[in-house]
Amino acid sequence: MRNGCIAITRDGTLAYANAVAYATLDLEAGPDDVGRPVAGILRAHGEIARILLSAFELNHLPNRAELRLRATGKVIGYTLSHVCDEAGRVCGAALFFKDLTRVEQIEERERLRDRLAALGEMAAALAHELKNPLAGIEVMGGLLRRHASTTPDMQTLVNDIISEAKMANAIVQEALEFVRPIRLQVEHTSIALVLHDAVRIAGGKGNPGEVQVSCSVDQRIPPIHGDHHQLCQVFTNLLINAFEALEGKGRVTLTASVGRMDTGTAPAGDGPDSQAAVVVDVTDDGPGIRPAVVERMFNPFFTTKPRGSGLGLAIVRRIVDAHDGRIDVDTVPGQGTSFRVTLPVVGAREWADETVRS
Ligand SMILES: Nc1ncnc2c1ncn2[C@@H]1O[C@H](COP(=O)(O)OP(=O)(O)OP(=O)(O)O)[C@@H](O)[C@H]1O
Ligand SMILES: [Mg+2]
Repeated sequence: MRNGCIAITRDGTLAYANAVAYATLDLEAGPDDVGRPVAGILRAHGEIARILLSAFELNHLPNRAELRLRATGKVIGYTLSHVCDEAGRVCGAALFFKDLTRVEQIEERERLRDRLAALGEMAAALAHELKNPLAGIEVMGGLLRRHASTTPDMQTLVNDIISEAKMANAIVQEALEFVRPIRLQVEHTSIALVLHDAVRIAGGKGNPGEVQVSCSVDQRIPPIHGDHHQLCQVFTNLLINAFEALEGKGRVTLTASVGRMDTGTAPAGDGPDSQAAVVVDVTDDGPGIRPAVVERMFNPFFTTKPRGSGLGLAIVRRIVDAHDGRIDVDTVPGQGTSFRVTLPVVGAREWADETVRS
């Protein structure tokens, strides 16, 4: 059974609970649970015990309802049913439920994607409209400089107008580049090389100071179907963020290992719903990220830095999405941050077939 199932008798004692139920509720099965009061067994989940016991007072039982468990934060979907004896009298109740946490996460990610798409459309329209008047200002400023600037003060003013217009144009260009759909140049890409290049580029572009960077790559990692250049950008942006968070002191570790990622809504495992993946963790021992920032940090133009553009993580997410991968963050304020990028080894099978054929 893929669902959790708990059944109780009319006197509120446990009649049955399957392994999925215990696992979903993070409980250990006891050898003599059956026959004991369900309220005691589900002490950590009082709300579930109450739902089960309410079955004997209700005529209409909840069907496909949802509930967030207070103890663990998991979201479950459940259906409550009566269990009747041969004479049709209610003699017990059964609760069927399923962990919906992953489904929730996927929906949240889709909502974010929709929001970004809408934002992108607006930014593209705005940028497009602004491009022409800005170019006009630049050209007219140039003419003014040539014809009308008689005094040095005037010269400086006109030069300022031109350089401000240039700067505004650069921002517009950046926004347009960001909203343009990503085109991947897919090839057999070695993650070891990607990480190697990213460390080099981030070291040049960012400001590592005395930060120690270490990189460990599992030798068994297969090449993945990906865009070397864009994947470099993913890890460069993550590394630069780590350097900026560490302000010149601390450690950053990159680890790449073989893993799996789920393709459907089932949790990751070895089953048919999961596929081979490469998992890269970028971990720093910096200040960590506050929950309010975590919620918004993937939004374009969200930044907490005086000179940041706030596009770093938005670009990272877009590139990872384009590779059908996922990015997760684990952060503890005061201890550090770890970004996990999981990339499917898409086409691993075709790759194997090709090598067999050749
Ligand atoms: N490793 C990290 N440690 C602490 N905070 C981080 C870390 N990575 C990202 N952040 C937070 O997330 C915010 C958004 O990051 P993002 O890379 O998108 O933009 P940015 O670094 O501010 O600007 P840009 O990358 O465009 O120069 C940052 O301003 C910072 O507050
Ligand atoms: Mg950044």
